[in-house]
Amino acid sequence: MLSPSPFPGSAPGLLTGHAEIDQEHRLLLSTLGRLREACLRFDEPRDCGGCDALTAAQCHNTLVELLGDLLMFLIEHFQKEEAIMKESGLTTREREICERHKEDHAAISQTILDIVTALDPARTAHLVRSLHTVLERWQHNHIRLHDQILVRLLLPAL
Ligand SMILES: [Fe+2]
Ligand SMILES: [Fe+2]
Repeated sequence: MLSPSPFPGSAPGLLTGHAEIDQEHRLLLSTLGRLREACLRFDEPRDCGGCDALTAAQCHNTLVELLGDLLMFLIEHFQKEEAIMKESGLTTREREICERHKEDHAAISQTILDIVTALDPARTAHLVRSLHTVLERWQHNHIRLHDQILVRLLLPAL
């Protein structure tokens, strides 16, 4: 299961001010740490060829488990934010902004589904790095460009 961990150093810049959304972001971002541990060669630009079969199988299993947790949690998180948009009336008042936010949710979900489709015990190192890049982009772009704006637009109603 995903377990809570504090935001890294840049934490304050990632907060939205919405307690529930921020707590879920912490859980999702804890995956970044788990990912780095999933591949022994994370910091080396190498594939799984340098690892023995048992290690490669363990890394593959860790990635499969992590992707399962992540997808389930991410989909629920995105659905929750989209429900907040609808219930607050923002989907009507700020339609364009909400549409762009939802499009980005769909794009992130699709990128992660593409990684699931590409699962291959011989390519775990590459897939771990790809997933790490997606999550970092989500952290630096999506939270700042979409989630923080969503909560700012909600503020008069909170
Ligand atoms: Fe979002
Ligand atoms: Fe979010």
